[in-house]
Amino acid sequence: MPKAELHVHLEGTLEAELKFELAARNNVDLPYVDVESMRASYVFHDLPSFLTIFYEGSFVLHHEEDFRDLVYAYLRKVASQNVIYAEMFFDPQQHTDRGVSFSTMIEGLTRGRIEAERDFGIRSQLIMCFVRERSAESAMAVFEMALPYRHLIVGLGLDSDELDNPPTKFAEIFRRGREAGFRLTMHCDVDQKNTHEHIRQAIEDIGVERIDHGANLLDRPELIEMARERGLFFTVCPYANEMMRPGENQSIARGMLDLGLKLTLNSDDPAYMEGNYINENMLMVHDLAGFGPDDFITVTRNAFDAAWIDDELRQELHRKLDAYAMASV
Ligand code: HPA
Ligand code: ZN
Repeated sequence: MPKAELHVHLEGTLEAELKFELAARNNVDLPYVDVESMRASYVFHDLPSFLTIFYEGSFVLHHEEDFRDLVYAYLRKVASQNVIYAEMFFDPQQHTDRGVSFSTMIEGLTRGRIEAERDFGIRSQLIMCFVRERSAESAMAVFEMALPYRHLIVGLGLDSDELDNPPTKFAEIFRRGREAGFRLTMHCDVDQKNTHEHIRQAIEDIGVERIDHGANLLDRPELIEMARERGLFFTVCPYANEMMRPGENQSIARGMLDLGLKLTLNSDDPAYMEGNYINENMLMVHDLAGFGPDDFITVTRNAFDAAWIDDELRQELHRKLDAYAMASV
């Protein structure tokens, strides 16, 4: 099925093989002897333990070429799964704090996108995320670095450790971002402290168009109503949810679908999640939550509607899905 991915962290697509290649190229010592032992170290049980491993991985990224290779490898991989459009998160603070310049990063990421479109026909855009456990000042500094590259970044997001880092901590930046023409989304991760208030703030105080994850909205009728009224989209990641709520049979995806909320399905950090890219995440809700062909068409239409693209491209994406749906009945 032609499809879109809207919730994937580029740093979370860094496969162990590429990590070794970049480490060798940049003379970075890795604490693992081989790809297998590195993969075996990817053990986590909650958001903070995941983030520690995730941040270590990005230390091998230094030069423009490295960022180019990261994006290119992800887009090549998902083009093989018939992803025809992707919006990809990146966390500039992970890199600028290590002395990588904003221009090195953005130019490498952009070159990877352009070359992947040339080689595989896949279209893509970038969403810049702020690391929420860092200060609002740090986020504002990176926001200002991004302004000269506004045309290369479609939206702003918020990720990383949600504990005591509510959306309103970044209200001023997101207000300025909206004024500058960025589209807005935010993570509200599964089962976090004050999650209902964080979801409410993201919707009412920040005015996001999407929520990344957002599972706990299902607990509160007034939040469900708010999401319906505003036509909010949800970027849900089945494998990541399985990690947060093991054995719950994908109650999040199922619940959103049954309520008619605008659910989309995505992969989050596939290189750290046993290589589960978007197809494997879709298979997971097929196997565990009984999603069938019509449901996958619904979530894919939702993703094309949620995409931050012009009408011409949106129609083109929908036409490809129409052709697929016609051919498969
Ligand atoms: N949540 C928060 N931060 C993240 C995630 C996530 O799913 N993936 C990478 N950084
Ligand atoms: Zn995420």
